[in-house]
Amino acid sequence: MIVLGIETSCDETSAAVIQDGLLKSNVVLSQEIHCEYGGVVPEIASREHEVQLTSIIEMALERASISKLELDAIAVTYGAGLMGALLVGLNLAKGLAIGLNIPFIGVNHMEGHLYANMIDNPQMEYPFLCMLVSGGHTQIWSVDSFGEYTLFSNTVDDAAGEAFDKGARILGLKYPGGPEIQREAKDGDPDKFSFPRPRLKRSEYNFSFSGLKTAILYACKKMTDDELLQNRSDIAASYQEAIIDTLLEKLKKVYQKTNINKVSVAGGVAANTRFREKASELSDQMGLHIHFPKMEFCTDNAAMIAMAGYERLKSGEQSSLNLPAVPNLTLAG
Ligand code: KG4
Ligand code: ZN
Repeated sequence: MIVLGIETSCDETSAAVIQDGLLKSNVVLSQEIHCEYGGVVPEIASREHEVQLTSIIEMALERASISKLELDAIAVTYGAGLMGALLVGLNLAKGLAIGLNIPFIGVNHMEGHLYANMIDNPQMEYPFLCMLVSGGHTQIWSVDSFGEYTLFSNTVDDAAGEAFDKGARILGLKYPGGPEIQREAKDGDPDKFSFPRPRLKRSEYNFSFSGLKTAILYACKKMTDDELLQNRSDIAASYQEAIIDTLLEKLKKVYQKTNINKVSVAGGVAANTRFREKASELSDQMGLHIHFPKMEFCTDNAAMIAMAGYERLKSGEQSSLNLPAVPNLTLAG
């Protein structure tokens, strides 16, 4: 079965082709234009998707050496995401499915992330944990079998990526903040400043990053511009360390509760080299197997949507052409 996947939920315009569970192509266009605004501008995102999506799909088909007429189905993200952005992908997918007279299936974006590891690690066996650390999400799921998920950890306020982005802005660094803080932290001392590792009394598995943001704001406010510049790499290193320690502390707790030792990581924060380093230390200590999918599958991409769609189509599912875009779609769990 040959499936075309389409993803336009936020600021990545992406199309991918999967043939019998194997990835043939994955084209991702990250909309650079949002950098100058310090965050994603929904109206601009949908307009860019409109302009780019058709040629991105053509590129994906060409790289896979597949003609449109060979497609068996189309998988597309129908939520969660920005309404206008989702509609661009969803409407194009419906139009193509009607034109080619093939089924189409709406995929939950989050489900895509949970299956991203299957693209380059097909031997991953159930059950496994999936840690999703992006600009919008900080969650730990257990994936018990296909379509069976349990949510163990979630953030009660900011997401980990958001904490990086907000911290970077306070430090006078650019957006997206994660790579900027990582670069700045490289020569910094992670023990120089003491930032909180929030422990939530009532929900020990959940994350909270808003206190950390307040802490960095106060630490910086106390300094003159010169002092801030002199201390910036130490602050960045200490701040990064606090985010990572918090993430790994909760992962450890979920592992201790579930005894599931296979872990897949998804989301933009998975690119962080210090996070990878400390995750691998934790793996050695605790006997965990942490799989970091290739970066192109960690961040938003259509390959994961095609993969999740392929699994659903294989089990005989398809969506009605009336399927609406659902900006606040959640996964049961
Ligand atoms: O998954 P993603 O590309 O987009 C969504 O949020 O959907 O994640 C983007 C987030 C941003 O907040 C960005 O600052 C963060 O991932 N990020 C990083 C790194 N690269 C990207 N955070 C820490 N270290 C990095 N190297
Ligand atoms: Zn995502």
